Order: sequence, then structure tokens, then C-alpha cells
Amino acid sequence: MPELDSPQRQTPDSLMLPGFWYRALPADRVQRNQLHQATLLEIPLVVGRDRQGEAFALRDACPHRGMPLHSGHFDGTRVECPYHGWTFDARSGQCQLIPSLTADQNLRVDRIYAGSYPCEEQDGFVWVYIPEASPQGAGFTKPAEAPHPAPLIEKISGKYKFAYLTTDMPVSVDHGIIGLMDPAHGPFVHQSWWWRGRHSIHEKHKNFEPIPNGFRMSAHTPSSNSAPYKLLRLYAAADSITTTIDFVLPNLRSETIRAGKFWFSSLTTVTPITRNHCRIDVVAAWNIFRWVPFGPELLKFVFAKFVDQDRRTMEMQAEGLKHNPHLMLIDDADRPAKWYFQLKAAHLEAKRTGGVMKHPIPGPVTLKWRS
Ligand code: FES
Ligand SMILES: [Fe+2]
Repeated sequence: MPELDSPQRQTPDSLMLPGFWYRALPADRVQRNQLHQATLLEIPLVVGRDRQGEAFALRDACPHRGMPLHSGHFDGTRVECPYHGWTFDARSGQCQLIPSLTADQNLRVDRIYAGSYPCEEQDGFVWVYIPEASPQGAGFTKPAEAPHPAPLIEKISGKYKFAYLTTDMPVSVDHGIIGLMDPAHGPFVHQSWWWRGRHSIHEKHKNFEPIPNGFRMSAHTPSSNSAPYKLLRLYAAADSITTTIDFVLPNLRSETIRAGKFWFSSLTTVTPITRNHCRIDVVAAWNIFRWVPFGPELLKFVFAKFVDQDRRTMEMQAEGLKHNPHLMLIDDADRPAKWYFQLKAAHLEAKRTGGVMKHPIPGPVTLKWRS
């Protein structure tokens, strides 16, 4: 493998991966009997919640003449297109009524579908499964089925607090993900007087291992300058604190920190909206601070600050990327980014050949960098 690799060379088309679950919208924004627009992998969706409280997702284009269905009427069960009043079952997408048909016209209305996507509500988000072959807009496609449930946040005990943050990033999902997994930007992007300065930079050694569809930073005592670690130090002895960080295709970064009976767990996703636009959603659950007033607010403040620093950085980076510069990845600090591209390529290759995915990481490895 060459010392310097261009991510553009490795994934020339910034491919977005179908065949996975993606977070569409925070669940608390989707009220009963409402319709919302969402875009995943450049697919326009109308996401709603029916009268029973179940979330659903349909392609946001009427199979008749392409009218966006989110602008239609929704009675809690059926979505009516505002153009000619074709009416679809919200969950299955099956057409139920074409008002212009006369009594003697026997078009099989029930064979027409608006294209419905598997939808699940999990840990505060509405997730939508994007199948390999997306339901066609004008179509007769019955609802697809997801082969596995949507990802979950690891929760170690029954009682916990819960919060989410969501931020749009004007970069492709690839840049969003490698930015998220990048260990070397911390001292430069995430500095603040109450946290750390750029002079806290020091050498780190971290053990990694392959896991299905991804890699794990093995359980270790967290970096002394990481956010949750500093908070946990208030509760537990430093050497009892361990953290594990996983990255799994297509876009999942999960981190679990344990300190005796206390734990903090997060699942961060980078969702491809369009080719040049992604969204980062951080959802966290924890059982520390449950009884401390302002505890969750403090934690949320710290995370909001971090995510906002990343967002501002990526906005600036997007300016530079407009001119399609040559990019390079170095060892070891950019090795997680290289692995991401290799995993993605291996996944696509396995799909192309119909074989099992050949994992690009042969075994446990220690990476070194200064941050
Ligand atoms: S475009 Fe929707 S009913 Fe005609
Ligand atoms: Fe960051």
C-alpha cells in the first residue's frame, strides 16, 4: 500500500451505500398525523407518523406525475396527493383511490405503490432502511423488507438519561466520516480555555482490531483530554475508566465508556443526504449525573461545543474542497480514514461478486500519533 493515498482515488464517486439503515429525523420532530420532508442518499422521502403513532417513510414523489407527497393531505392513515387526489396507504404506500376513474374503468388501483421504505423508531430517531434497489417513483414496487433491525445504542443498565444533537455538514459523507474518526485534529479544532490548548499535544499509542464490517479501538483508559473522561473522573478512579470505540459500515461510530457502575454510551452517525452534504447525529445515553441538577445540560453543552467546532471546520474545508485539491492520507494518524475507504471498497467488491467481504484489516495493530 502506498504511503500516501488519495481518498478521491479510492472512492472516485463518493459513493453512498444502499443496503443499510440511516437516521432520517429526530423522532420528537415527527408528531402524529404530520408529514415531513427528508432526504437520504439523494432520495426524497416523506416521513410521517400515523394515527397509531407508527412512523413511516414513502418516496416523496407521487407515482402519477411526480408531485411531492409531503405537500398533500394526511388524515393519519392515508396520504392524498394534492394534484389529482390519488390516495395511498401511509405505511404500505399502496394506492387506494384514483378519484378520476369512472365506475366502468377497471384500472387495478391496488397494484400501484408510492414506494414505501422500512421504517423504525430507535433511540430517539426515525430510521429508514434504504434497500439496494430503491423503490421506483412511478411504480408497482411493494414495500421492501429490511434484513436486520436498525442499530441500537449500547445501554448497560436500565435507568439512564438520553440526549441527541444534530448538525448539517456541507461535505460528502466520506469527509464527514474521516473527520469524525480523525485523531489528529483535536488539539487544533477542539481547543478552549476550559478544556485544553494546543500545547497539551502528546504521543499516544492505541490498539485496534478488526470487527465485522469495521474496526475497534480496543478497551483502554481514555485519553486524559477527552470530554466524557474528564467528567467521569469526578466519579471514579482514573484507572477504573475504560473506553471502547467502534466504527462499523456504513457510518456508525459507537463509543462506550465504563467507570465502575457508571457508563456513558454514544452512537454517532454520518448520514449521506446528497453527494456533497451530510448530517452528523450524536445520540448519547448515560447513567452518570442522573441525580445532579444541570448534569445533562453540562454534558450536552460540552458535546454541542465539540460538534459545532467540527461543523465550522468542515464548512471551511468545503471551501477548499470546491477546487478539487489533491488529498493525502498519512500513517498512522490517518490510518482509520484509510481503513474506512478500504472497508467501503471491500464491501462494494463483495456485493459485486456476491462473495463474502474480505476484511481489509488482517489483525490487531497498534497505531501511534501525537494529539
Ligand atoms: S401527481 Fe399525484 S395524483 Fe397526479
Ligand atoms: Fe472533532
